[in-house]
Amino acid sequence: MHFSPQAGAATPPDGKAIFVAKCSACHQATGLGNGPYPPLAGNPDVTASDTAALITTLLHGRSGPITILGHAYSGSMPAWRDQLSNADIAAVLTYVRSAWTNKAASITEDQVAAAAAPVAASGAGLFAAKCATCHGAGGQGTSGVPPLDGNADVTAADTKSMIATIVNGRTGSLTVGGATFNGKMPTWKGQLSNADIAAIATFVRGAWDNKASGVTEQQVAAAGPGVASSVGQSIYAAKCTACHQATGKGGGGGIFPALANNPHVNAADPTPILTTIEHGKGVMPSWKGQLSAADIAAVVTYIRSAWGNKADVVTESMVSAIK
Ligand code: HEC
Ligand code: HEC
Ligand code: HEC
Repeated sequence: MHFSPQAGAATPPDGKAIFVAKCSACHQATGLGNGPYPPLAGNPDVTASDTAALITTLLHGRSGPITILGHAYSGSMPAWRDQLSNADIAAVLTYVRSAWTNKAASITEDQVAAAAAPVAASGAGLFAAKCATCHGAGGQGTSGVPPLDGNADVTAADTKSMIATIVNGRTGSLTVGGATFNGKMPTWKGQLSNADIAAIATFVRGAWDNKASGVTEQQVAAAGPGVASSVGQSIYAAKCTACHQATGKGGGGGIFPALANNPHVNAADPTPILTTIEHGKGVMPSWKGQLSAADIAAVVTYIRSAWGNKADVVTESMVSAIK
């Protein structure tokens, strides 16, 4: 059955049709409920202006004692997050909030999406959203992409290297279970939080046939930036120290500016320094075409965290966005 419009179509899903198909068997077409199934008509939980609990009930289901309009219920309401889209859930809730004698404001797809987000942030949800296209939903790998299921690098007791792979990406020859891969794993630095990376790493280490212990956010924090800055540091050493010095103090009698404690370098918005690095300025060479966006992101992340500087990481997409 299709409740959601085809991609690109403008008609929103029909909340009443969804209710009839999915809900009325228990809650009745009248919304008055029946036996163990509570009424939705005249139910203040359904018409409440704070819709968080209502949306959560639809997404995740609920069971256990609840008192509604003076009656105790103790049944089980199914979870709908896997069967109905966020748009469908918004439509059916909008319907039950305005049908019968109910008169409450509609619920938008965005409200449902926001409430659904914590689920997507679970390791399994993140893996499905970010990794499964390449590594396969079952971690079996796809053509040119190594399997994560049964992969000894993934389940290694020392998690540093797999965390570093997820944080920084990797390229180059890689042998897994006798097969050689030579692809490019994207960097997730700046796109996933340390907590999300810990959740994904914990998931892939324990999913399918893998049976390794979980990874903490602290381990990601320790392994991630350390490795990231070592990449940036080596680029800095090769390309930048001649002028800015290894100490970041600059030199040349003030011609080469200090990057240490430099407010431009530490600025919350890195656009101006990225523009200088990409396009050059005066004696400062242009690095566009000489360093990849990923390398520029790494070296800028390094100079923003070295010598007492404390500014956020810079991602490859921030570099690519510089005109
Ligand atoms: C298989 C029967 C069943 C179906 C189908 C069902 N529900 Fe329920 N629903 C229940 C039960 C039972 C409860 C009470 C759960 C409890 O006791 O904790 C409930 C509770 C609820 C509540 C919470 C009411 C409150 O006061 O907190 C809402 C809202 C709700 N259902 C809406 C829906 C909608 C919308 C659908 C269709 C998408 C639906 N239900 C489909 C059985 C069902
Ligand atoms: C665009 C495709 C793509 C996506 C998306 C992707 N990967 Fe990868 N991944 C690869 C490729 C290709 C390799 C092998 C790289 C190489 O040959 O060096 C790899 C390697 C890895 C490795 C190293 C395996 C080993 O044996 O050392 C891990 C761990 C990994 N990926 C985890 C993930 C996780 C977790 C995600 C989601 C956050 C993810 N990947 C998303 C393509 C991808
Ligand atoms: C040939 C010397 C030279 C090299 C090599 C060089 N720079 Fe520069 N850099 C300069 C000069 C000179 C300026 C000042 C430009 C101006 O403001 O006119 C500058 C400015 C900067 C700024 C802006 C500082 C501010 O206060 O706005 C940053 C950031 C920077 N450089 C980073 C780097 C990085 C990273 C590298 C290596 C990839 C690098 N530079 C390599 C000479 C150099």
